[in-house]
Amino acid sequence: MDVSFLNRVAVVTGAGAGLGRSHAKFLAERGAKVVVNDLGGTVAGEGASTDAADRVVEEIVAAGGIAVASYDSVASEAGGRNIIKTAVDHFGKIDILVNNAGTIRDKSFAKLDLENFTALMDVHLMGAVYCTRAAWPLMLESRYGRVVMTTSSAGLFGSHGHSNYSSAKLSLVGLMNALKQEGTKKNVLVNAVAPMALTRMTESVMSPKLAPRMKPEYVSAMVAWFSSEQCKLAGEIIECGMGYYSKVQIMEAEGVFLGDGDVPSPDMIGQHWAAISDMRGAKSYKNADDLIRSVFYKMKEQGVLES
Ligand code: NAI
Repeated sequence: MDVSFLNRVAVVTGAGAGLGRSHAKFLAERGAKVVVNDLGGTVAGEGASTDAADRVVEEIVAAGGIAVASYDSVASEAGGRNIIKTAVDHFGKIDILVNNAGTIRDKSFAKLDLENFTALMDVHLMGAVYCTRAAWPLMLESRYGRVVMTTSSAGLFGSHGHSNYSSAKLSLVGLMNALKQEGTKKNVLVNAVAPMALTRMTESVMSPKLAPRMKPEYVSAMVAWFSSEQCKLAGEIIECGMGYYSKVQIMEAEGVFLGDGDVPSPDMIGQHWAAISDMRGAKSYKNADDLIRSVFYKMKEQGVLES
């Protein structure tokens, strides 16, 4: 069956521009009733306006879709609660939450004013926490939910001048990994996209010539798949944009035991670096307990731990 969001209610945060606007329209075009949330500030998160969210609602309604605007900031607990309440008040429930709202404030770490660090953590991490926390009990109770986090290659792999943004973006992966443990059995599935798209956030570093290839819709297709009933995945991270879709995964090497039960010297660690960091046979784990169990298993197998 083709993906359809008929009878589904979605909240898209930061949906007044760029990727969020595209996600909201993409879901609405396929039948979802959508809460278009946006604070309407600058790319750095300054100021506020109702225009951004209103415009996208108008676009959706003009195309025959169903949408309502929400102007709260995701960066407060009351804001998160209100955003989800808007969905429940207007459409009776919440099925899909796309945590997309974001801001950027670049500066090298040495020069970064720490207020600009916490501001980004507040929007990206706490914004997702507040919205997800408000939706979570409702999703668990209805035994249905799809949550999409918006991470970034800047957090997954690092980016110069983005210590605040990278930290905030990777922290969403930690949140997703933990929520995966709590939601999956109740059909509340959390995944993440790492987008590549030309928006006002990236226009200073991308050529306008790339615009057609870098349109946000390429990312929205991935968000829509993660938001669908058909998708049973949880804890996945997908780099996506320009028609390119690729899984990103945290993996641990096979590893090596050093010191024969004694604490190894730092020199010994240096000498065995090749073995410690050999990623052939590296594995990913479904949770932290599995990883620890696997280390104990290797200890037994290699005679390091007497059974
Ligand atoms: P954008 O600046 O076009 O859109 C972000 C939207 O979020 C804006 O409409 C803004 O008003 C809204 N927003 C900001 N703070 C808010 C708050 N406190 N409450 C509610 N709404 C708020 O940027 P873009 O590119 O569309 O970014 C969307 C998401 O994708 C962000 O989380 C960004 O970090 C992430 N991202 C984007 C990439 C890209 O290539 N464009 C790359 C990696 C991640």
